[in-house]
Amino acid sequence: MNSALSYAGQNRERFLAELRDVLTIPSISTDPDHEADMQHAAKWMSSQLLSMGMNNVQIMPTAGHPVVYGEWLGAGESAPTVMLYGHYDVQPPDPLELWVSPPFEPDVRGDYLYARGSADMKGQVLACLKAVESIVRTGHLPVNIKWLIEGEEEIGSEHLDVFIRGHRELLACDFCLNADAGILASNEPSITTGLRGLAYYELRIHGPSKDLHSGLYGGIVHNPAQALAELIAGMHDPKGRVTLPGFYTKVRKLSKKERQGFARLPLNNRLYREQTGVPALWGEPNFTPPERLGARPTLEVNGLLSGFTGTGSKTVLPAWAMAKISCRLVPDQTEADTTRQLRAYLKHRAPKDIRWELTYLHGAGAALTSTDSAGIQAMRRAMKEVWGKEPHFLREGGSIGVVVQLQRHLNVDSVLSGFALPDCDAHSPNEKLHLPTWYRGIETLVRFFYHLR
Ligand code: BES
Ligand code: MN
Repeated sequence: MNSALSYAGQNRERFLAELRDVLTIPSISTDPDHEADMQHAAKWMSSQLLSMGMNNVQIMPTAGHPVVYGEWLGAGESAPTVMLYGHYDVQPPDPLELWVSPPFEPDVRGDYLYARGSADMKGQVLACLKAVESIVRTGHLPVNIKWLIEGEEEIGSEHLDVFIRGHRELLACDFCLNADAGILASNEPSITTGLRGLAYYELRIHGPSKDLHSGLYGGIVHNPAQALAELIAGMHDPKGRVTLPGFYTKVRKLSKKERQGFARLPLNNRLYREQTGVPALWGEPNFTPPERLGARPTLEVNGLLSGFTGTGSKTVLPAWAMAKISCRLVPDQTEADTTRQLRAYLKHRAPKDIRWELTYLHGAGAALTSTDSAGIQAMRRAMKEVWGKEPHFLREGGSIGVVVQLQRHLNVDSVLSGFALPDCDAHSPNEKLHLPTWYRGIETLVRFFYHLR
């Protein structure tokens, strides 16, 4: 272990150079214009695996973006097999004008590396790759590993589900290390024990057959933008609870012990206000912010579009209005449940003077993971050695599709962590990776592998 750790220390500059290299690839999974970049990023990942001496390295097609696979099974049958999960796709970088340096031209300023995907999650994938490289270049991996690096995490991992079901043998393993969840703060290591699920929709309201003169028709035609706003406004009550019929029916009640766990976390309202820049927090008053983020479902408007939004003015009554709406889910809610509930709400509440159309785009299941497995113990020990303190256990608000897919199809649990910080601005302009934490992350992962045996 010590020679692997000193290799990691000596190669920091090159690790960073390689990270900068992969961050120049705009692998935006949701945008069809970036198809070639997706291929390029997959290729980049597979060459990393090949150059580290991984076996059976393949770029495997799916009905969507390809999966990169590779393995090293030289530790023998008596050793555990760990799946190392990552995603090479990123979220769109817009609004571009808010970036201090361009999103795909990585820039180091102070302790941070700025680029889309630096924290979420190319930096985390590289931390895993470089930890394994440090081990295989200086000795032997104490465990077998299987890499699963996908290109659709940021769009719900839809085709990964089919892929996992179709490759049960190939992917069989004892547990999965998933570094896509991050830690609490640079001085507060943590292991994530739960993720929320997601159900993502597009809601379209259709009014007149074309945009109309708002003077000639305003007052006799229900404006679709207004109808949409009315429908959206009705989706929460004044206390911030979602009003869809049955929305909370399956939501588990928090036990006293669970609430004590949330209360122990080093989090407070001021911290959230600072991270977000809002003058006051919002949400269900009977739950604390960490509880609302980790264990309560939500409904969010992710985007709105209608009518004239250019410079200047145009007196128009728009023909249509559109909203992107998503729900964060908790156990035991399902995507199918919220789809039914949203449809029932619209059926009941939508006025007869417009037509609505709801499309389900994608989703992910809500997950809870075990807290006392061998993988968790190894990660705990590694974090304690590097940070000098025990990691916190917490449930996070984000979603990662693969976690439930692995539970369902392979009966495989995940160790969720990573080295992104909550203020990394993932999905926002100026996404950044805290480099000192990233280097600690690589060291943690090296130790983690040795503590598995
Ligand atoms: N890394 C995040 C998920 C995450 C964020 C986990 C914070 C824990 C804490 C991941 O890349 C992500 O953003 N996932 C999407 C998934 C969705 C599109 C299905 C998300 O949560 O919006
Ligand atoms: Mn993300």
